[in-house]
Amino acid sequence: MIEMRDVGFGYQGQDELLSGMTLTLQPGMFHFLTGPSGSGKTTLLRLCFADLLPSSGEMTAFGQDMRGLSRDAIADLRRRVGVVHQDPQFLDHLPLAENIALPLSIAGEEVDMDALRDLLGWVQLSQHARALPPSLSGGERQRAALARAVILSPDLVLADEPTGNLDWDMSMRLMQLLIELNKSGKTVLVATHDLNLIRATKAQVTARVLRITGGSLHLAGADL
Ligand SMILES: Nc1ncnc2c1ncn2[C@@H]1O[C@H](COP(=O)(O)OP(=O)(O)OP(=O)(O)O)[C@@H](O)[C@H]1O
Ligand SMILES: [Mg+2]
Repeated sequence: MIEMRDVGFGYQGQDELLSGMTLTLQPGMFHFLTGPSGSGKTTLLRLCFADLLPSSGEMTAFGQDMRGLSRDAIADLRRRVGVVHQDPQFLDHLPLAENIALPLSIAGEEVDMDALRDLLGWVQLSQHARALPPSLSGGERQRAALARAVILSPDLVLADEPTGNLDWDMSMRLMQLLIELNKSGKTVLVATHDLNLIRATKAQVTARVLRITGGSLHLAGADL
């Protein structure tokens, strides 16, 4: 669904940060992306939803070349890829339920209230539906961001350090939701520097672990 062949990327005016990346995100698979802080995990995720474009190499998403995508094609790609950002932002003046439904409103689609209620229940935020985002805890914000990322029923879910500031129990609860999404057929890619989290998740689901070191991407072995 996402394919990279010998892809390189550098931020404007800077040396290449990532190079020679070859990667296939296989449909239905659970993937981790790991690597030290500053290695380029967020950058790689941004390439996957066409927030950044490769500087070199070939990259396709759902069979389409990432370079030269029309505005409509980018909109289509963003529907098919749900993103949980490293530091999720919300519209603070809107209740949580409306924040979660925002991708639907932006896409000009009607909000199915039953589906929204189910989604809030799934992330255990039903009691917070009318709450404003600033009143939520870190774990609640992350679960809300996950709900918002899946409201358009994407094929691929990218989660960037979704457990960043959470304690272990809440981290595992969030991973459980991602595992459930994967079991329901979605392809998942989770960026994290937390090897314990990867190990605990791998006990429950078959996952491929990709690691960025020294600006290139490697498939990690069983040596985690
Ligand atoms: N918009 C930008 N312009 C220039 N440099 C950037 C930009 N965004 C990130 N960088 C640099 O690119 C490198 C990789 O950043 P990135 O955010 O992808 O790393 P990361 O692996 O996600 O790190 P972390 O684990 O801390 O989230 C860093 O050195 C960062 O400073
Ligand atoms: Mg990052």
